[in-house]
Amino acid sequence: MSGEESRIPQPRRKTIIAIDGPAGAGKSTIARHLARRFGLLNLETGAMYRAFALKALRAALPLEESAGLKKLAAETSIRLEPGGDENRVLLDEEDVTGLIRNPTVTDAASRVSIFPAIRAWMVRLQQQLGAEGGVVMEGRDIGTVVFPHAEVKIFLDAAPEVRGQRRFEQLGKSGRAPAVQPEEVIRDLHARDERDRNRADSPLRPAPDAVLLDSTDMTLEQAVAAAEAIVAAKLKI
Ligand code: DC
Repeated sequence: MSGEESRIPQPRRKTIIAIDGPAGAGKSTIARHLARRFGLLNLETGAMYRAFALKALRAALPLEESAGLKKLAAETSIRLEPGGDENRVLLDEEDVTGLIRNPTVTDAASRVSIFPAIRAWMVRLQQQLGAEGGVVMEGRDIGTVVFPHAEVKIFLDAAPEVRGQRRFEQLGKSGRAPAVQPEEVIRDLHARDERDRNRADSPLRPAPDAVLLDSTDMTLEQAVAAAEAIVAAKLKI
């Protein structure tokens, strides 16, 4: 190996890598690996929508009424602290990291995220979080809305059955979810996909300049390697 090749890759300080795609495509795993590999912070924007959804559920607000949600948002603080394996999520300074991955909050997150006022607030927070660069940010609209000028954009996808199965296995491993059947997870995932792809404001779709990565026939390790290669090629490192 030449000296050139053996150098540890050093992306530019301001680098922003945007990872978008539907649930269960492997975004979190890939974002985590890319952050480690390239020395960047990993920011999961879905966790922010989840934290707000938790607050709305606790307040017993109807999730289809934007006015109440907008008012609630005005009195809510959400912070993400990048950590090793996942972000610590602080809702009004309460650590809710362990409370936001269950099916009820998951469904509610997708519901509250359709409202423009909620999205505008979240996008602002996310732009502040990533303003310094040096981040891998994952979500649904990072490459299209939050950071349309990100240096690297990857749109990760996989067939719905594969994503459903992965999500089911993830829930089992995390020990955080109540017992559910794989069919139930796949059904919920379909419903969420529909909503995330068809909402009027910032629907889930690839940015025109995103690199598409379909992990249907890949192991997660293969998908991670493919994503690393995309980043290295884009950043020329
Ligand atoms: O990535 P996730 O599964 O944690 O996201 C939960 C929900 O939050 C998802 O169904 C839609 C919404 N979301 C969004 O609208 N925009 C983002 N950037 C991230 C998540």
